[in-house]
Amino acid sequence: MDAHKPKPTPQPVRSIWLDEADGEVKVIDQRRLPHEFIIQPLATVDDAIRAISTMTVRGAPLIGVTAAYGLYLAARQAAERNLGIDYLESAARQLRATRPTAVNLAWAVDRVWQALAGESDGRQRVAQSRTAAAAIAEEEVENCRKIGAYGSPIIESLSRARNGKTVHILTHCNAGWLACIRYGTATAPIYAAVDRGIDLHVWVDETRPLNQGSRLTAWELGQYGVRHTVITDNAGGHLMQQGQVDLVIVGSDRTTRGGDVANKIGTYLKALAARDNAIPFYVALPSSTFDWDLTGGGREIPIEERDPDEVRYVEGWDGAGQRRVRLCPELSAAANFAFDVTPARLVTGLITERGICQATADDIGRLFPDKAKQAVSAPGHLDI
Ligand code: MRU
Repeated sequence: MDAHKPKPTPQPVRSIWLDEADGEVKVIDQRRLPHEFIIQPLATVDDAIRAISTMTVRGAPLIGVTAAYGLYLAARQAAERNLGIDYLESAARQLRATRPTAVNLAWAVDRVWQALAGESDGRQRVAQSRTAAAAIAEEEVENCRKIGAYGSPIIESLSRARNGKTVHILTHCNAGWLACIRYGTATAPIYAAVDRGIDLHVWVDETRPLNQGSRLTAWELGQYGVRHTVITDNAGGHLMQQGQVDLVIVGSDRTTRGGDVANKIGTYLKALAARDNAIPFYVALPSSTFDWDLTGGGREIPIEERDPDEVRYVEGWDGAGQRRVRLCPELSAAANFAFDVTPARLVTGLITERGICQATADDIGRLFPDKAKQAVSAPGHLDI
């Protein structure tokens, strides 16, 4: 066997777990997939901070759960070294600041913080933070399972409309189990439909510059036996014009109360092309990805700008190892906007753990009356 082929992954697979044997948190190093399957231990809060900022772990729900467990690791260190609440507060702040766009991060840190801040005993803080982090992980898994259950009928009805002929689905970035602990958001309806025997095929946007599509989504789908084809980021519009896309499903990093969707850079262009070709464009997200505080529209969402070298260089496998090569002239500047915002008006529907709703403040509020506390007075979406 080729020593460099990824080892078969254990089933059922999760992208983060607490190892009871050593109390450490374990993650899969997503920078190395699909070429190498490496499990990375996170023993300290600094390990968790580094894992999120280097994108060893990525994807909105996974970032949130990693940060939640990061605060648990900080509580463990604090208990061992007799450190007080100031240490934990600083850890929570650092975790919150690791990446700016996915709202799951701040949401998860705040939830674990609330669980431990009322405790004065160090061991109790460890226990409370561990329980809270584990609960968030379990909820995200269950949310994704439900997103699959609510979303797969969309694919099934397209299949019926096509008399059982292959349904072609386009997705962008990786909103699969790697990004979400299990099942995925955008991929959950796909896996559920495949389980129900629907004939489908997935167009996988490569998703420059870090290639989460060609590296991660393609790997995931392949592991599950889902027929898929990797395409360049610019091919989707052409395929839509040619009648080769029946449905677009993407994930989200932050969705406002009005239904504007921040997701990986390039999502907006897919939504525009889908609208121009009358193709349904769905966004799958758990409630942890809604930003209930954003009422003024998607322009308020902070868009992460990453190291321009991620654009200037590309990494890949040369048969012997992972290698990095420069793509552009040495002195050319580059810019690396990691996310964009798709206005609500381009979104056909939001697939959530409570069902499907329109991307409007009213319909989101109907599904989540407990979360959307106040009525949105402004239109609440990008007017562009
Ligand atoms: O920069 P990344 O890889 O963290 O970006 C991930 C995405 O944009 C995903 O589509 C998003 O987090 C949804 S995952 C459920």
